[in-house]
Amino acid sequence: MQLSVFGLGYVGAVSMACLARDGHRVVGVDVDPHKLDMIRKGQSPIVEEGIQELTAQVVATGRVAVTDDIGSAVRDTDVSFVCVGTPSSPNGSQDLTAIRRVMESIGGALASKKSFHTIVLRSTVQPGTLNEVVRPILARASGKVVDQDFGLCFQPEFLREGTSIKDYDNPPFTVVGTESSRSADVLRELFGHLPGEFISTSIGVAELLKYACNAFHAVKVTFANEIGRLSKSVNVDARQVMDLVCRDKRLNISPAYLKPGFAFGGSCLPKDLRALTYVGKQRDVTVPMLGSVMGSNRAHIDHVVDHIVLSGMRRVAMIGLSFKSGTDDLRESPLVAVAERLIGKGFELRIFDPQVNLSRLIGANKRFIEQSIPHIGNLMVDSVDAAIDHAQLVLVGDGGKQLGETVAQKIRADQAVVDLVGLAPENLKCATYFGVTW
Ligand SMILES: NC(=O)c1ccc[n+]([C@@H]2O[C@H](COP(=O)([O-])OP(=O)(O)OC[C@H]3O[C@@H](n4cnc5c(N)ncnc54)[C@H](O)[C@@H]3O)[C@@H](O)[C@H]2O)c1
Repeated sequence: MQLSVFGLGYVGAVSMACLARDGHRVVGVDVDPHKLDMIRKGQSPIVEEGIQELTAQVVATGRVAVTDDIGSAVRDTDVSFVCVGTPSSPNGSQDLTAIRRVMESIGGALASKKSFHTIVLRSTVQPGTLNEVVRPILARASGKVVDQDFGLCFQPEFLREGTSIKDYDNPPFTVVGTESSRSADVLRELFGHLPGEFISTSIGVAELLKYACNAFHAVKVTFANEIGRLSKSVNVDARQVMDLVCRDKRLNISPAYLKPGFAFGGSCLPKDLRALTYVGKQRDVTVPMLGSVMGSNRAHIDHVVDHIVLSGMRRVAMIGLSFKSGTDDLRESPLVAVAERLIGKGFELRIFDPQVNLSRLIGANKRFIEQSIPHIGNLMVDSVDAAIDHAQLVLVGDGGKQLGETVAQKIRADQAVVDLVGLAPENLKCATYFGVTW
């Protein structure tokens, strides 16, 4: 293919060299004439393992050219990759000056181009940037219809400096966000041979994915370091601890606990998190991330309570009360916290949880309800119907599949649903639907 790459920094220089190595003809564009000169001489503008040799090799084949003429770079190629920088502004926001400038020029060049062109943004941008910033600039500058006359894509870049050529050749997956199926096909042709799945998704998902990945990496480093300092403070080798943490591929290094939904609770996580952070307090080890986890969990509960309060509906049915489906354990259940907040605000509550049937409860849980939360025990009913008959709003907090199906059938067209578990909204005949994180 005939390709152009705008911005020849770490991402652009590696992409240009690898695409040319794979047999494509690539035109590089940059505002820095020094970088263009270096590439003309077969030198890489960046330092990376293997990039000097690869740049010299691909420039020698004649498949690489550089220019500062954006018009010709767009007219003479089928796909333009935009890899310009998106640095932080002094106030922490993202500086999109370079992206605006490049898109303005590419749009201008597209005004007179007859054949179909695909624009692929590879710079990391905040969610909404493509549709709210890039799309209008391109439409205005070209006078054409985006995703009809030319295609617009976002393809997050996952390479890491230091191993970027290896990462280019071995990505975890290739993700393309676009509304143009024609452009998605073009990119599949270019990158479909790489290992890892090729995934076409929406622009918003692709934009947020890149931030979610980098935030996850940052959180992982911070987690390991906080566990590291805590371990050291009690004379334990954190490397052994984290090595064993990583060997659990079922609950630790796995998709477990990584599905957005409602807050955590139960008899172990909150208690043990508090005890662990207290170890830090005793030994003057600050662990800001671990110390903020309970606060984050409370914010999640607040979000649901605030929504219900703002709905103005006073008669609420709660489906589910224990901390997770399939157990009767109410200790530190976030649903108990929601119920207590609503009762405190004078809501009329009825609660049904198939596992928390007062007549069948025994032992510690019966005692817990009778002694610690009798005000909640009094609101429990023994069927879905009894809970939702009176309700204006139904809060679904039990993720049991069968229960979810029963509730979905019984919800009326005049009722509002607050979904903490991921029901299929298309199967609900409700008046309004609110998903906790979706
Ligand atoms: N560096 C990485 O490892 C990495 C990895 C993934 C994603 N990213 C993202 O990719 C983007 C680029 O990162 P980078 O590290 O390659 O940046 P960089 O600063 O190394 O390179 C950016 C290049 O864009 C050029 N440029 C600026 N304005 C231009 C314009 N108007 N026209 C043409 N060229 C222009 C600059 O001269 C520079 O050569 C950023 O959004 C970054 O967050 C970087």
